[in-house]
Amino acid sequence: MNPQLANFILKKTPDFILHPKTMSDTVFTLNTGAKIPALGLGTWQSAPGEVKTAVSHALKVGYKHIDAAYVYGNEDEVGQGLAEGFKSGIKREDVFVTTKLWCTYHSRVEENLDLSLKSLGLDYVDLYLMHWPVPMNPNGNDPKFPKLADGSRDLDKSWSYTQTWKEMEAVLKTGKTKAIGVANFSVPFLEELMKEAKVTPAANQIENHPYLPQQEIVDYCKEKGILITAYSPLGSTGSPLFQEKEIQEVAKKHDVSPGTVLLSYHVARGSSVIPKSVTPSRIEENMKLIKLDSDDVKALDNISKTHPPNRFVYPAFGVNLGFPDKQ
Ligand SMILES: NC(=O)c1ccc[n+]([C@@H]2O[C@H](COP(=O)([O-])OP(=O)(O)OC[C@H]3O[C@@H](n4cnc5c(N)ncnc54)[C@H](OP(=O)(O)O)[C@@H]3O)[C@@H](O)[C@H]2O)c1
Repeated sequence: MNPQLANFILKKTPDFILHPKTMSDTVFTLNTGAKIPALGLGTWQSAPGEVKTAVSHALKVGYKHIDAAYVYGNEDEVGQGLAEGFKSGIKREDVFVTTKLWCTYHSRVEENLDLSLKSLGLDYVDLYLMHWPVPMNPNGNDPKFPKLADGSRDLDKSWSYTQTWKEMEAVLKTGKTKAIGVANFSVPFLEELMKEAKVTPAANQIENHPYLPQQEIVDYCKEKGILITAYSPLGSTGSPLFQEKEIQEVAKKHDVSPGTVLLSYHVARGSSVIPKSVTPSRIEENMKLIKLDSDDVKALDNISKTHPPNRFVYPAFGVNLGFPDKQ
């Protein structure tokens, strides 16, 4: 074709045809009005030496949402990965960064957020979550996982997570985070929080996959305008979910991988999802999200009716966190 004609056609072609939006571009709106990309990159257990590349690769291929936490001990490298992305021209305001308050800092919220911001090399995060509703002794025998002599977790019984929430509300006013939320909150814990909260949490990040749909939390949060973010969506390291018959059947029906089905499940439920990978090919593969129909979602929902609940992440705090599968 004549190059001038080709150029003319290219100029006249609307942007949505040249750059079609895919499911991985899906965004949800938080109760603050801010947009959160449905797909984010998880960074738990992403080892030093791997996570910087994982973050910068994710940003390069189009991720716009990174999930971090102080306790993961790798925020400095996550920050290096972000810096590399910014150096390549990606704007700070186009990346949604979440991080989390650790349990030994419940009575020192701003201090913990400052530590995370310093490591991440940021002036603000987009979302700051209370990682677990469990205050632990800030002056115990370990800065992150203090234990008592009998080996049990050294909890801070003088402090409550509702007090922590008040501190989080105060930190919101500083602008160091654009939104505040929670993680690992069951319905009874949310109800307790909401009795005193002035700010409704923007998000509740919970373990979520077909072995643990936690429908009662999803329903409660939907009613209150709290976005669910699904963690361990693939079932964490070495997950048996990939071998699950129903998941493989839905994958076969759409000619996609079981991973695509597991991630797309959350977007179909209106939740954001944060698969972790340090493997560049998987980081890219996990961007492939599809629109599941109601039959698919029903088939995935049905798995938990015949399969006992399987919670992969449950630290031994020795606290009843109110989850029905742990009663
Ligand atoms: N709020 C909380 O308390 C909490 C708790 C747990 C997790 N999280 C967040 O949620 C994120 C995700 O959860 P997660 O790390 O537990 O588990 P996950 O994302 O369900 O699974 C991660 C595992 O799956 C592998 N993987 C990734 N993509 C794959 C693919 N396409 N095919 C096959 N295997 C694949 C990863 O391996 P490679 O990395 O080797 O590729 C890794 O071993 C965390 O990283 C963290 O950011 C939050």
